[in-house]
Amino acid sequence: MRQSSLVVVANRLPLDDNAAPDGACEWRRSPGGLASALHAILEGTPATWVGWGGGVGGAPILPDIGTLRLRPIALTEEELRGYYEGFANSTLWPLYHDAVEQPVFDRGWWETYRAVNHRFAEAAAEVAEPGAAVWVQDYHLQLVPQLLRELRPDVLIGFFMHVPFPPPELFMQLPRRVELLRGMLGADLVGFQREQAAHNLAQLAVKLLDAEYTAHSIRVDGRVVRTGAFPVSIDVAEMESLSARPYVRNQVAKLRHDLGVHKKVLLSVDRLDYTKGIEHRLTAYNELLRDGRLKVRDTVMVQVAVPSRERVESYRGLKDRIEGEVGRINGEYGRVGEPAIHYLNQPFDRADLAALYQTADVMVVTPLRDGMNLVAKEFVAARSDDAGALVLSEFAGAAAELEDAFLVNPHDLDGLKETLLRALDAKPADLARRMSAMRAHITYHDIHAWARAYLTALDHTGRLARTLPRQRVAAYSDRHR
Ligand code: ADP
Ligand code: G6P
Repeated sequence: MRQSSLVVVANRLPLDDNAAPDGACEWRRSPGGLASALHAILEGTPATWVGWGGGVGGAPILPDIGTLRLRPIALTEEELRGYYEGFANSTLWPLYHDAVEQPVFDRGWWETYRAVNHRFAEAAAEVAEPGAAVWVQDYHLQLVPQLLRELRPDVLIGFFMHVPFPPPELFMQLPRRVELLRGMLGADLVGFQREQAAHNLAQLAVKLLDAEYTAHSIRVDGRVVRTGAFPVSIDVAEMESLSARPYVRNQVAKLRHDLGVHKKVLLSVDRLDYTKGIEHRLTAYNELLRDGRLKVRDTVMVQVAVPSRERVESYRGLKDRIEGEVGRINGEYGRVGEPAIHYLNQPFDRADLAALYQTADVMVVTPLRDGMNLVAKEFVAARSDDAGALVLSEFAGAAAELEDAFLVNPHDLDGLKETLLRALDAKPADLARRMSAMRAHITYHDIHAWARAYLTALDHTGRLARTLPRQRVAAYSDRHR
């Protein structure tokens, strides 16, 4: 068994289960912040990534990707339903996102969630060399830190929660709250996007486990667990280099032409998820057209909504509602050859996303709750022209860093409408000032800085951080354009 000194454990591998026809292994980045973030730092790092390759049945044999080894985890159909679609995405996901959709508490899912977490912990234990660091990611694998500690007391265990971690009032609803809390607290360092989340964890540990805490640590069961905020980011250099490519420039010109050279373009890019506030922004746009404050002859919206978790009931309902609303808006306000909204329910290549970002006059990001929202940061990174406006929900983690965005409460429809109009009408000099301030921030706080900060906090020595590539290596899309 080949072992690594750095093991990353995340539900999803960055590949799906289809290798290329010639057997070659290629990055196929699944949409989603976690895959985007980890992909950028692990490509070129000597490490092992333990994760699910998508699909059901036996684990595919996946070749190494450069220095990165992939250790796939197989899931059965029943496990997919109970662990991934059930407990992770119908119980924890909605509850952690302020219960904007009703969480489902199905007693049948817990055992499967626990058993699958155990399988991930065993795989991590197998591939970790003595004294290795194991970095566990996100709400799917909340029991892994504790399970792994039992199997391998010699390893250093980090846990990072990409999604919000809720206040005690919400977390306390969970039927298995004590087990979930103990699971996370099996780590040596628990990282979050925001300080508030670390505070929520400490409050819960006091309440449920009789723990004691300081600003950045929790003492529980005779151990000290460190906590902290590490806001995740993007590969700024990748987005900048993509944006400068001739293919992308040509695409921008083509998109501009196809959408209407004189029109203002509103753009949104999301996984099709109820936390993203897609319905709220459609309502705002609909009302602005209805009130005559926007006209289809000079404005157009592009909504990219990549399919996500399609077998989960609440996602199916959302897709139907969104498609109905897009149809109604186009039916009412569109003209022949001139729709009010272009709706694209499909995955996009990174280069095509970069082209869309560069085409937008206003990027509209309106989640009702979001751990970070990397789309907002990608948009900023793609705008080396310092043009374009970012309308950003106050409820996205990114709002704490991108203070020069047009911040908005998406629940306040009138406020959202006014903010969209303000962003559309903003003067180029104002936009340039805002964009360059935001670009300066993310250039400094990019994904490499995030990984270095977390891993240095984990091992205190900087040894782990030094295993990360100093320079970015050519990313998937770069090699194909
Ligand atoms: P979440 O993690 O909740 O999906 P984020 O905004 O943090 O939200 O991350 C979304 C990631 O998925 C971004 O890196 C974005 O580029 C990518 N993405 C979004 N839509 C698409 C799409 N249609 N095709 C490919 N990637 C996408
Ligand atoms: C969010 C979660 C990730 C997840 C991603 C995509 O970013 O924090 O853990 O991978 O959404 O969702 P999916 O269910 O397709 O993995």
